[in-house]
Amino acid sequence: MRWFRREMTGILAALGLVIGGQVFAGAQESPPFLLERMQVEGLENVFRVRPDLYSGGQPTEAGFAELAKLGVKTVISVDGAAPELDLARKYGMRYVHLPIGYDSVPVEQQRKLVKARLTFPGPVYIHCHHGKHRGPAAVISLCRATDPTLTAARAADSLKVMGTAARYAGLYASVAAARPPTDEALRKLSAEFPEKVAVSAMAEQMGAIDGAWDRLKAAAKEGAAQGADRRALLASVVELEELVTEAGRLVEGDAPGLKPAFTTATTQIRRERESLEKPNAAISTEDVNQLAARLEQSCNQCHAVHRDRK
Ligand code: HEC
Repeated sequence: MRWFRREMTGILAALGLVIGGQVFAGAQESPPFLLERMQVEGLENVFRVRPDLYSGGQPTEAGFAELAKLGVKTVISVDGAAPELDLARKYGMRYVHLPIGYDSVPVEQQRKLVKARLTFPGPVYIHCHHGKHRGPAAVISLCRATDPTLTAARAADSLKVMGTAARYAGLYASVAAARPPTDEALRKLSAEFPEKVAVSAMAEQMGAIDGAWDRLKAAAKEGAAQGADRRALLASVVELEELVTEAGRLVEGDAPGLKPAFTTATTQIRRERESLEKPNAAISTEDVNQLAARLEQSCNQCHAVHRDRK
């Protein structure tokens, strides 16, 4: 009877009923996988992944208004930052907060994504900060976990299209390994989905650092820094230095292994600040670009070792 079982499994799998030997809860034919890039005001890197599933960056108020026009009812944040609950409510949406790191989309979070998708009305918008790395990894994991026809190769290509950097090997690996959860695994999960969960003090501080970093990049974009521009650039470097120094204090208690990396980073930022404080001539566009690149390097150096790997 082996042939029969194989045959039946093939037929049922084609119908989307049997996944990894398990009958999938309420399985219907999977919705079409679209992956269409969209230009939407107030939202970065937006993709329509399925007819009722979008991914992108943190919405501004204009972004929420546009999401409302698309009919979005549920917003899932996979970012560490606190979701903008008031704005979402104003536009008739419900937040679900399922933060993940840059090292993986843990299986537990994948299952929660599946359950949240079954629990809340669509269309759904899933986002991280810029909509490039964690958001796409979460969305594509969700698609793999609900559509057995989406191959690992196509999933990896999709991440590339969405801009997920190759250095986030853990995100790529999670998407490749994503599987449909069993009914039982889904049943075991709580149906309570908080709109906002507490994240580690470090993740919170990094959120603040990221805000300062965005301001610094905006100041640097002005190019050559003189007069007021130079003061704006200096102010954002000072802000960054303070926040990174504070992050270094935070790790003293619970992650002392991170301390040396923070000492290196704060030393680098302090040097940049001191050279900007020198009261001499204007700083050229090239100098400003190089300064921003050096600072970014100091973020990346630490993340590569302490954040992006398991
Ligand atoms: C010395 C190490 C170190 C430096 C320097 C550093 N970070 Fe981080 N960063 C971390 C760690 C560790 C995490 C993970 C925190 C967690 O999830 O608990 C993190 C997480 C983050 C996150 C994710 C927060 C979230 O939503 O979960 C962002 C964004 C971030 N860092 C931005 C920056 C930027 C921008 C810079 C440079 C200006 C920077 N970081 C410098 C160690 C560092």
